[in-house]
Amino acid sequence: METVQRLVLLPEEPIGQVSPYIHGQFSEHLGDCIYPGTFVGTESPLPNTRGIRQDVLEALRPLEIPVLRWPGGCFADNYHWRDGIGPREQRPTRVNTYWGMAEESNAFGTHEFIDFSRQLGAEPYFAGNVGSAAPSELRDWVEYCNFAGNSSLADERRANGSADPFKVQFWGIGNENWGCGGNMSPEEYAAAFARYRTYVFNYPGSEVQAIACGPNSHDFAWTRRFFDAMKNHHTSCRLKQVQGFAAHYYCGTTGSSTEYTDSQWLELLARGYAIEGIVSGHRAIMDEFDKNRRVKLIVDEWGTWHPSGPGGTSLEGFHGIYMQQNTLRDACVAALTLDVFNNHADILYMANIAQLINVLQSLLLVEDDKCIKTPTYHVFDLYKPHRNGQAIRVISEAETISHGEASEEHCRSCYTDQRTLDLQAVHSSATIKDGVLCMTVVNTHPTQQVELDVELRQANWSELEMVTLTADDIHACNTFAQPERVKLSAPQRSSNGGKHTRIQLPAASVVRVMGTLH
Ligand code: AHR
Repeated sequence: METVQRLVLLPEEPIGQVSPYIHGQFSEHLGDCIYPGTFVGTESPLPNTRGIRQDVLEALRPLEIPVLRWPGGCFADNYHWRDGIGPREQRPTRVNTYWGMAEESNAFGTHEFIDFSRQLGAEPYFAGNVGSAAPSELRDWVEYCNFAGNSSLADERRANGSADPFKVQFWGIGNENWGCGGNMSPEEYAAAFARYRTYVFNYPGSEVQAIACGPNSHDFAWTRRFFDAMKNHHTSCRLKQVQGFAAHYYCGTTGSSTEYTDSQWLELLARGYAIEGIVSGHRAIMDEFDKNRRVKLIVDEWGTWHPSGPGGTSLEGFHGIYMQQNTLRDACVAALTLDVFNNHADILYMANIAQLINVLQSLLLVEDDKCIKTPTYHVFDLYKPHRNGQAIRVISEAETISHGEASEEHCRSCYTDQRTLDLQAVHSSATIKDGVLCMTVVNTHPTQQVELDVELRQANWSELEMVTLTADDIHACNTFAQPERVKLSAPQRSSNGGKHTRIQLPAASVVRVMGTLH
């Protein structure tokens, strides 16, 4: 069955420039993300560069990941950076108490993470320990990484192989300090933030952007109470100390990672789309305290979260904690989310999907000597041309196909009274860069294809190129046995264009159309 839907693109109504950092990633010492997903060590029979898997590097390089967050997550507030420097054979073995009491060899530490980031061309984003360490520990880590001059810490970094400072710009002052990062109230965290932040210095040539722990999901009270409490700290420059404020939003699951009905498909997409209210709601509260928007809004963890265990993971027997299969449905959630981010280019600075490899909504799945790209990987690949583009307003006149009922829990602290999860048949975003218009569209319906009428106001486009991500089954995923079941189509070129363009969107698909603007 086919429906006709309509979109209007308004090139003369710019929203803002899309920050490349909204395509950020996150790697935590959790399950199989770091060992063996990223780091196998120099003695491994698997091909590696200084211990980092070659297949992973080759798979990730084309994405040009803009920023990579590490070492957690909840791991961060129980991580002591000194454990992860110096000769590897002398590093202590610790217990990863938060994630399954796993053995933590500390083989992958600060230098290895910087090496990984540099090999990918990504900006490193460190999450500091506030929950279980003194402010001096964070102070020393920043000095160790960023100081170019003479000090014992800078000399230690040099002795450990890095003559030049790492110049780490992004520093999280804790993670989820309302939970695993110390179970603090917003007021307690504001006090902790002010204290720890005081000792995070800008060393010459290495300016820091300090990122405060923001709320979980719709917890608007956290945002208001944090900024309110900050008034009590260092009044003259309290907001100058907070460069970023990072919310987390996991849209969860319906059914399992690979088994769901059409209506569960729609419900999860609607829950994914609800990130729109989180981004706009938290920014609206921040604006009450920071009308000049000096503090940047970040979502440094987001994604789907499917149940673990039989049925929740896959029949391939994934074993790592939170290692989940990733289908066309996860890809559509990712695409909807990135479209929301583009449509809020004026207020969103960075976002980091959870997580890069083998954990939650990962981009890669890695096992033994195999490494495959998930459908979510292909969405990031497809959306790359949006980076640094000027987002423009898009009006979707598409029908509403689902009013997923928001659960009681979801609604409890909703910013508005809205109790439904809206989802339109077609969601989209568009950007302009170097005279090229890039539009991405999600057909959210699991079974209906769409004939899409795109109207371009006060402009024309031509030389269109269209790339599609879809599959013949809404449950389709990539497996080690069949790694390319879900992948991007070859580009289709057409001389169509003008002001009105008709585009066929397969059911359950993500489509990118690019064309020269006149
Ligand atoms: O990404 C998995 C976990 O989810 C992170 O460690 C934590 O910050 C969040 O609760």
